[in-house]
Amino acid sequence: MIKIAVMGYGTIGTGVVQVIGTNQDSICKKVGEEIEVKYILDVRDFEGDPIQEKVVHDYQVIANDPEVAIVVETMGGVEPAYTFVKAMLLAGKSVTTSNKALVAAKGADLIATAKEKNVNFMFEASVGGGIPIIRALNSCLTADRIEEICGIVNGTTNYMMTKMTEDGCDFDEVLKEAQAKGYAEKDPTADIEGHDAGRKIAILTSLIAGQQVDFEDVHTEGITKISATDILYAKKMDRSIKLLAISKQVGETYAVMVAPFLLPKDHPLFSVNGVFNAIFVRGNMLGDAMFYGSGAGSLPTASAVVADVVELAKHIGKHIELEWKSQKLTIADYRQQAMRFFVRTTKDQAAIENAFGNVEYIEVPQAGDEIGFVTQEMKEAEYEEKAAKLGAIRQMIRFH
Ligand code: HSE
Repeated sequence: MIKIAVMGYGTIGTGVVQVIGTNQDSICKKVGEEIEVKYILDVRDFEGDPIQEKVVHDYQVIANDPEVAIVVETMGGVEPAYTFVKAMLLAGKSVTTSNKALVAAKGADLIATAKEKNVNFMFEASVGGGIPIIRALNSCLTADRIEEICGIVNGTTNYMMTKMTEDGCDFDEVLKEAQAKGYAEKDPTADIEGHDAGRKIAILTSLIAGQQVDFEDVHTEGITKISATDILYAKKMDRSIKLLAISKQVGETYAVMVAPFLLPKDHPLFSVNGVFNAIFVRGNMLGDAMFYGSGAGSLPTASAVVADVVELAKHIGKHIELEWKSQKLTIADYRQQAMRFFVRTTKDQAAIENAFGNVEYIEVPQAGDEIGFVTQEMKEAEYEEKAAKLGAIRQMIRFH
C-alpha cells in the first residue's frame, strides 16, 4: 500500500482525489500496489465532505509521517508551497505539483533537493494541463537537440480568443465564462497578460536548455489589447489570432517570447480552439511533432498529476536524472527575430510608405479613420525604428 497526501483541496486537488477514486483499479494495477490518500492539507475543514476525516491543517503532520511516500502539491503560488514541498523532499518523500509558479521559480532547486534525498520531483501538470509534454521532453525526445517550441499553453486565453472570434462576444463576458469553468487562475491577470504562458515557456525552455530560464526575462504581451476590429482584419487575412509562447534556438541559447500572433490557415496551431492547448516541437533529428489536448480544468490537470503519482510510485528509492541546472541562461534578444508585422494606423499611405516602403494593404469595411497594412519581413528592432518614424500606431500584431 502506498500512502499519499494532497496539499491544497481546490480545483485541481479535488480533481486528483476524484481521478484516484474513479480509476482506482486500473491505477493500482499500473503501480502494482494499492494507492490511498491518507491526508488532505487545507486551511478549510470541509465539514460533511467524505474526505473530512483526512483533513489536516499542519504540513508537518505529513512531513513527519513515514507512511506517506508521495505528496501532491496543488495549492498554487510560490509560498507557502515552496516551504511545504521542500520540507516533503527533505523528509524523503517524492512530490508532484501542478504549480507552474513554483516550478518556474524553484524548479532547479527542488530537482537538486530531490536528487540529494534520492527521491523525485515531477511537474507534468504545470504545463499544458493534461498533455504529456514534460515527460515527452524529459524521456521521449532526449535524442534530439530541440530547436523550437511553439505553443498555445494557456487555455483561458485560447478559450477567450476562440469565443471572441466565433461568437463576437466581448472580452469581459468571455473572461467570466472561462473563470466559471475553472480554467482561469485565481487572479486572471496572469492569464490575460500572458504571465501564465510566460512561466510555462520558461519551464519548457529550462528543460530543453538544461539550465534556469527566468520567466521575468521572457518578453511577454497578453491579449488585453486585442479588439473586435483586430479580429475583423484577421478574418480578412484568413488568419487567426492566438496567444503563442515561443522558444527558438539561437546559437547556444534561445529567444523566448509570449505574444498574440496572426497564424495562417495552414499552420498546425490555427485550428486549436477553445480550452485546448497544443505544443509544437521541432527537434534536430525528429523534425516536427505536435502535442495536443485539454490544457486546463480540474480533471485534465488532475489526470497529469495522478500520472506523475503512478510514475513516482514506480520509482520509489530511485532518483530519475533530470538536467535543469540553477545557473541562469542568458536568453537571446527577441528583437533580432525576423517576421512580418500587421499594423493599424491613422496615418495616410504616403506616410506609411515613407516609413515602411512596400507594404500590403488590408481593407475592411469597418476601417473608419484608419489603414491596416502588413510589412515586409524585418527584424523587430528594425520594425520599432520604422514604427517610431511613422507614429500614430493603433495596433501591431506579429505574423507567424
Ligand atoms: N489558467 C491556466 C490556463 C490553467 O488557463 O491555461 C492551466 O495552467
